[in-house]
Amino acid sequence: MENQETLVPPRKILVCDTTLRDGHQSLMATRLTMKDMIPMLEQMEEAGFYSVECWGGATFDSCLRFLNEDPWERLRTFKRYFKKTKLQALLRGQNLLGYRPYPDDVITYFIEKAVDNGLDIIRVFDALNDMRNLETTVKAAKKAGAHVQGAVVYTISPVHDIPAFVAIAQQMYDMGVDSICLKDMAGIISPYIARDLTRAIRAAVPLPLQIHSHYTSGMAGAAYLMAIPEGIDIIDTALSPLAMGTSQPATETMIASLRGTPYDTGIDLSKLFPISAYLREAVKKYNIKYDVVGGVDANVLSYQVPGGMLSNFADQLGENLHRLPEVLDEVPKVRAELGYPPLVTPSSQMVGTQAVANVLAGRYTMVTNEVRSYLAGHYGRTPVPIDPDFRTSIIKDTPVVEERYANLLPPGLADGRKAIGHLMETDEDLLSYLAFPEVAEKFLQQRMAGKIKVDLSIAEENAKEGKSGVYPLP
Ligand code: CO
Repeated sequence: MENQETLVPPRKILVCDTTLRDGHQSLMATRLTMKDMIPMLEQMEEAGFYSVECWGGATFDSCLRFLNEDPWERLRTFKRYFKKTKLQALLRGQNLLGYRPYPDDVITYFIEKAVDNGLDIIRVFDALNDMRNLETTVKAAKKAGAHVQGAVVYTISPVHDIPAFVAIAQQMYDMGVDSICLKDMAGIISPYIARDLTRAIRAAVPLPLQIHSHYTSGMAGAAYLMAIPEGIDIIDTALSPLAMGTSQPATETMIASLRGTPYDTGIDLSKLFPISAYLREAVKKYNIKYDVVGGVDANVLSYQVPGGMLSNFADQLGENLHRLPEVLDEVPKVRAELGYPPLVTPSSQMVGTQAVANVLAGRYTMVTNEVRSYLAGHYGRTPVPIDPDFRTSIIKDTPVVEERYANLLPPGLADGRKAIGHLMETDEDLLSYLAFPEVAEKFLQQRMAGKIKVDLSIAEENAKEGKSGVYPLP
């Protein structure tokens, strides 16, 4: 055993801690406030992480919609604390941080500003793995001087096999990305598939590889351990109070698992315990529903429905909750009819909402605008072509876009400035507006009226003095 281990050349595994983004997005609906994060940032900076994922995904929307925080201010605050540790964000390719495709000029300016404000690593993915939807983001990120990472979206379907995922990674390499992430947002990759897929991508693409999975089905930790020897360089983990369940494997667990092996992270666990102790206290008031999001969810194995989708079903069904089994049967049917999209934002919402509508109102009696746009090609090329008769039955003679849809979108910046100029204090406000028009307009109006005062100074003072105060919810 010992001899065998020493035959492997040491290869230090880097850790990307996701607590500040995916950790709270997965377990507590993205509600962690900046005030509650600040007391732990200095210690996180000293922990020895390669990067912290702290921005993008649903955080931008949540800041404006629920927390009355300026997402740009949040990014700048992170940058003040993290100097050695790289700041990472997740962007949805041409869909940016939202649920629909944005014009190229908006994407380019958004990325330029995000890098200006302190972002180092931009992870981009497209829900359909349509590489045309990553062109603008990759180009803009490179131009802005960021490290751009292409995320291969993992899913299970009759058409998604290892050669298909390797081909996606190769296309990303050809586009000029700096690294590749194997992104398993539903937490369904099995340890042996993770091993084989990593080995295949490693052999085909000479770039750093990162793995991102969720503990939803209970397999993520094992998947990481099987993938690491095959060539994974960086793992995504979350601090234990916001780990496991629908979140990532725990940072402490993975570091301990790798200690003393050729893949030792070199991180001193004792530096993490005080951070987790603080965080465990800080998240108490958010009442995380661990019974829903915390354990192993066997549904994800039988229906491949990720945890977030299940809780949405409960909301959407309301008094019809007893029909949930029918909805779960309907999901794979809708997914097949829509050409097997991976279930990730925004396709997960489309498939989920349509499945609920099909059960409650009859199949495709009610069709959302998003599904209509999707069928008309606005979100890109589906993994399997959509049956023309099915498509026509829903969108009638609406023209189907074959080219990259963003080619057809008029520029958005000038019109946005006209619409929101009177409420803008910074250029970044324009981008908040373009990303989420109604929500941002309301936020900017309230700010102008002096109703938004998030005072972080007390939290920052306490952090300086080494006091980790726990604050009440806004
Ligand atoms: Co994730």
